[in-house]
Amino acid sequence: MIKFIQQYLHTVALALGLIISLALGVLSFSGAAIAQQKADPAFQKMMQGGFKAEGIAGLDRIQQDETQAFCSDVDFANGNSKAATAKRETIQKLNMAEIQLPSDFIYIGDWKKGEAIAQSGRGATWTDSAKTPVGGGCYNCHEINKKEISYGNIGPSLWNYGKTRGYSKQIMVYTWNRISNSKAYNACSNMPRFAHFKLLNEKQIQDVMALLLDPQSPVNQ
Ligand code: HEC
Repeated sequence: MIKFIQQYLHTVALALGLIISLALGVLSFSGAAIAQQKADPAFQKMMQGGFKAEGIAGLDRIQQDETQAFCSDVDFANGNSKAATAKRETIQKLNMAEIQLPSDFIYIGDWKKGEAIAQSGRGATWTDSAKTPVGGGCYNCHEINKKEISYGNIGPSLWNYGKTRGYSKQIMVYTWNRISNSKAYNACSNMPRFAHFKLLNEKQIQDVMALLLDPQSPVNQ
């Protein structure tokens, strides 16, 4: 009987030890998550060890550029400090400066092709080839054509985009810039930088532009 109690106590002690070490593990893990925003070398090392290059998805994808590094430091980037405000402006200028206007000065392509691009979320994964056309996935975040009832709402509705804003040169250029590199207007915009990451080419941006800004597009009826 005594032996049994001894064994029982031993098991309880082991279990307690396990619980304590698990709790410590969770604590140090959340510590790591906070450190992540501070570009901690240990975190960088963990990231590099946790991913492997496969197909077209190289490890360059986990290298953050200046814009991403700034926005990953969430508390600072979203704060109201003078330093953060100044940095947001610098980041926006940096992104604005790299936007290329259409080489043929044509902003509007084919809205039907634009609808297909806005619908598609394909491309750029390691199972794709470099030649797979990448979709815009615009409906993931925006309502666009009312006929499509499945859409996300992280971004504003783009229904009647041209009809409500007009078709001026100013709106054309603004929309071109937004699609090319949204961070030119909002340093930590949640919208992907389609031209910066070569997700969409010039022709595809012209087609998506047509979906939003061709008076014939169903979006503007
Ligand atoms: C991951 C979400 C996301 C995706 C994908 C996305 N957007 Fe956006 N978009 C946003 C957000 C959020 C905004 C609001 C502005 C901001 O926060 O920067 C926005 C703003 C816009 C605006 C400006 C709207 C205005 O009224 O000024 C346009 C135009 C736009 N998006 C077009 C597109 C197009 C076209 C695509 C696909 C090629 C697309 N977006 C894909 C999130 C997204």
